[in-house]
Amino acid sequence: MKKARISHISLICLVLISLIFVSCQSQAPEQAQTIKGFKAFDAKAKEILSQMTLDEKIGQMTQPEQDKVLGNEGDMQKYFIGSVLSGGDSDPIKDNSLIEWTNLYDRVQEEALKTRLKIPALYGIDAVHGHSNVLGAVMFPHNIALGCTRDPELVERIGRITAKEMRATGIHWTFAPAVTVPQDIRWGRTYEGFSEDPEIVKTLGKAMVMGLQGTDLSDPLSVVACAKHYAGDGGTEATKAPRPGFPGGDVTRMWLDQGDTKVDEATLRRIHLPGYVTAIEAGVGTIMPSYSTWNGERCSGSKRLLTEILKEELGFDGFLISDYNAIRQINPMNLKESIMISINAGMDMAMEPGGYREFFDILKALVEEGSVPIARIDDAVTRILRVKLAMGLMDDTKTHKADRSLHNAFGSPEHRAVAREAVRKSLVLLKNDNKVLPLSKTSARIHVAGKSADNIGNQCGGWTIRWQGQTGEVTPGGTTVLSAVKAAVSNETEVTHSIDGTGAEGAALGIAVVGELPYAEGVGDREDLSLDEGDVATINNMKKAGIPVVVIVISGRPMIVNDILPQADALVAAFLPGTEGQGITDVLFGDFSPTGKLSYSWPRSNAELPMNINMPTEKYNPLFPIGYGLSY
Ligand code: GLC
Repeated sequence: MKKARISHISLICLVLISLIFVSCQSQAPEQAQTIKGFKAFDAKAKEILSQMTLDEKIGQMTQPEQDKVLGNEGDMQKYFIGSVLSGGDSDPIKDNSLIEWTNLYDRVQEEALKTRLKIPALYGIDAVHGHSNVLGAVMFPHNIALGCTRDPELVERIGRITAKEMRATGIHWTFAPAVTVPQDIRWGRTYEGFSEDPEIVKTLGKAMVMGLQGTDLSDPLSVVACAKHYAGDGGTEATKAPRPGFPGGDVTRMWLDQGDTKVDEATLRRIHLPGYVTAIEAGVGTIMPSYSTWNGERCSGSKRLLTEILKEELGFDGFLISDYNAIRQINPMNLKESIMISINAGMDMAMEPGGYREFFDILKALVEEGSVPIARIDDAVTRILRVKLAMGLMDDTKTHKADRSLHNAFGSPEHRAVAREAVRKSLVLLKNDNKVLPLSKTSARIHVAGKSADNIGNQCGGWTIRWQGQTGEVTPGGTTVLSAVKAAVSNETEVTHSIDGTGAEGAALGIAVVGELPYAEGVGDREDLSLDEGDVATINNMKKAGIPVVVIVISGRPMIVNDILPQADALVAAFLPGTEGQGITDVLFGDFSPTGKLSYSWPRSNAELPMNINMPTEKYNPLFPIGYGLSY
């Protein structure tokens, strides 16, 4: 027995020795696991950090708006500014042309490189559906429509093209993708979300990050992405209470934007975090905390959210950029306290468009009095430098000027073809009585009507050239639905048009293009999602002509369509398709079958809102459920 025990013990020793040997082998320097992610740049970052004064460190954490800081001669140098943004409507002085944006980028870098350490600036912008501030850019469908494609490979290609059109201007950081999971479509930012379903959001959000950033951030055709708005921005509760920080607001108006998300941590993790987990997996360089509150606490000041969950538990090793003046909302009556809370909670860079001088001076005072530890400053600056190093921004060999050879591909037919494909794949066919679709290309006459029949601005929605978008000819180079219909039909077919649907008598059929006018953020918070009276009248006028009517809804969310459903022989949800209207007629005329599936639940009435798949099933009773979509 003893012998057996001895051999048994010797066997165990042998196994243990071999295990130790193997594990040592795997630690051999030449095979040492390379540090993944941005931490791989820590050695170089720390070397740069060691040369920096406190002013230079705080300058890296300060992000003014370009027009404000450039308007104060010498401030880029005086405050050692490490980043600027163009928020909504912060445009080049002359116009929004490709050349003016490119000149603006080059000027910003020229100013940044006049500082002692010559650290180039990071230039951030909301390129949220293409390089959407620039005239002639390809405007892709907004995320709500991309959600209906369920196609991560396509979304990644869109990210890649967006990055290339951005780099044509030099700009290399976009505040996208929104990985928000909107739970109430009355929120004005619903269309910025891929879906109410976190499973769709996490897949497409990751694809967009992969497309924007590519496999190597130093690739001159890559840009840094920004997953936003962390966390629970899409879960706020609709209310008519006075808005904190917005004294004297219209208390009769319902609002959700920047509101309070009242959920426990398990629910926050289940619904609102998945997009950040996959964005971090994809190596996202930046994340933007939300204006909103989680159970009453501003996300911008939550150590639980910013440090404990995001940085420590989920391992995010890029940097956090605050939303536009969001830090000031932590305590609207005390800016110093707000800055102290936010930076100590884990905020790394402050989007302080106009108040950048104040922010700089207050943060410096907070460090000098010991209220913000220098270790927190060093951590924030290390994170920022990691991203700049990963981008190759710190390479002395670079000119830091935009690569103007990329202007040739800007808004190219190849790029537009991908956007047209995205429009096709995002269309959702909700009704098709008597198989009125697909349409014939040889009808004698087709009548097209509705406020959005010939309107690029309505097709593109918010965040297009202007912060709020703009109805009408907002940008050149696109195709309206009316133009697309004319291009699709035979030479023998007459295409007529009216806004209000009159004049349709005698046509073979009518197409009514209705829905919403452009909006962004809280401006789009709406209690009543019914089609407006003009749209209803348009459809009724068409129907009075006794012809089949195809209704196309161009909107930032599902709308209440009960008033017109009986009159619509076919109903198509196009959401916000962007510039390439021919993607719609590709499907209407049968060159492609509709494959889109709803990314949000489509409600029967205002009264039943909010309506989403995350609510108790017994209450879930939409007109069309998420995932619904007909084909030919
Ligand atoms: C806005 C938005 C955010 C955007 C930022 C910069 O207020 O909340 O999504 O990226 O400011 O424009």
